[in-house]
Amino acid sequence: MVRAYRIKFPNHLKRKRHAEEEEEAKEELRSEAVDSRDYGGSGEEEVEDVMEDIPGIPVIAPVDRLKKPGVIFILDKATVEIGKVGKKHQLLNSDEHANFLKKHNKDPSEYRPDIIHQALLSILDSPLTKAGRLQALYIRSTGRELIEVKPNVRIPRTFRRFCGLMVQLLEKHKITAEGSREKLLALIKNPVTDHLPVNSRKIGLSYSSDKVVRMSDYVAAASDNVNLVFVVGAMSHGVIDKGFVEDFISISNYPLSAACCIGRICNALEQKWKIL
Ligand SMILES: C[S@@+](CC[C@H](N)C(=O)[O-])C[C@H]1O[C@@H](n2cnc3c(N)ncnc32)[C@H](O)[C@@H]1O
Repeated sequence: MVRAYRIKFPNHLKRKRHAEEEEEAKEELRSEAVDSRDYGGSGEEEVEDVMEDIPGIPVIAPVDRLKKPGVIFILDKATVEIGKVGKKHQLLNSDEHANFLKKHNKDPSEYRPDIIHQALLSILDSPLTKAGRLQALYIRSTGRELIEVKPNVRIPRTFRRFCGLMVQLLEKHKITAEGSREKLLALIKNPVTDHLPVNSRKIGLSYSSDKVVRMSDYVAAASDNVNLVFVVGAMSHGVIDKGFVEDFISISNYPLSAACCIGRICNALEQKWKIL
């Protein structure tokens, strides 16, 4: 019988591999700073700063967000928790860490950071965001972390790299763009309502709501002078926190994924604001 041997890598090689993985995750963010059509930020100064740090990049005029109302997303009840699995800190998820989670008396089915990943891609890839109408994006975790995600960040497209990025964020509390002080992702203080503009309408989404609406009609009827804040669940089961929500709606006769709901919202707003 052939005996299986485990190949042992020397520590300096393991460290090198870890450093390479971190660099890969950072590379995604760096390329966003280069690729972004809207450098965001709160004022002209920040925009100029970012552009100065990236010499040779064609400059595309930033969209003036301040003059137009926009949309804010809150991804609620997200599971972003790191655990030391073996020798490494990892973002806990039901696929890879079911045994680890069970051993620690946690329900693996609740650990679904893939829902956040899909939801983020759905928001950030939308023409609505590319047109500069995404004002802000927050993730509220079940562990009471509040994460601000800047509209001009590029989130890694593969789940493995996304997990690496989240681990870095939770450990360092922020991820900045290369060559600039701008925080692309950061842990910020609760409550989320402190970060919302005064003229905003907060709308919660759930399949369980009795008020079933057609999204295009719903947003068409909304005032053009308010920012629309949508609270969408990023969990596998349960209902969003209705605490500060002013309207609680269902947008389909079927239970949908968070990414699908976000797609409907973005679509409806793109129609309303004539974004092609
Ligand atoms: C995977 S679902 C969570 C499932 C949870 N049982 C629920 O329905 O709230 C993720 C989120 O998508 C939104 N959602 C799903 N189906 C919906 C529907 N028909 N109408 C409005 N929102 C919906 C809710 O915000 C929900 O929290």
